[in-house]
Amino acid sequence: MELTTLSLGVLASGEGTNLQAVIDACAGGEIPARVAMVISDREGSGALRRAGKAGIERHFVDRSRFPGKEDFESKIVSLLREAGVELVLLAGYMRLVGRAFVAAFPQRIMNIHPSLLPAFPGLESVRQALAYGVKVTGVTVHFVDEGLDTGPIIVQEPVVVREGEDETSLLERVHRVEHALYPRAIRLFAEGKLQVEDRIVKVEAGT
Ligand code: GRF
Repeated sequence: MELTTLSLGVLASGEGTNLQAVIDACAGGEIPARVAMVISDREGSGALRRAGKAGIERHFVDRSRFPGKEDFESKIVSLLREAGVELVLLAGYMRLVGRAFVAAFPQRIMNIHPSLLPAFPGLESVRQALAYGVKVTGVTVHFVDEGLDTGPIIVQEPVVVREGEDETSLLERVHRVEHALYPRAIRLFAEGKLQVEDRIVKVEAGT
């Protein structure tokens, strides 16, 4: 199947290892996409550094310079639109996305989360999972709605917790799964294999 190149915009606040995995998957031809723009709400974040290294257009958008969340997000939406972004990826973006932002990219914003949602939404999910004593946790990629990690689930991958495992070890294994799963979800989207009905995402067979 001949595929056109999907334009991605990535929002990240932190280290950017998921961003890096997506950049590498694009460069390696694993997904028919390119990262057109990286936006961060943290100056000097690892994500912005990685974007610079890869020669990707990057912006630091400072929340404190905007009177409200809507103005802040409308700046982000216009940057993404100017760059022709078709799919927005949240990759360690530490803010809840507002209604106007979601409406600007309907079913076109994805997030990656380090647990099997709906278990352990929010922050420090790996720590939460360990403290709860689950035997299996994992990774979820989902479409973004206005809730906290509540949008329609696209793909999930389990990670079995080892007996006596500490947070550092489990975090590392979860991250490794993330770095493979995000490209997989993007590829499904790029190939037009995802259909959303209410909150159910149907994934076309043969993938
Ligand atoms: C990842 O664990 C992701 O699932 C969560 O935030 C973390 C970001 O890590 N949403 P990185 O910045 O991609 O390294």
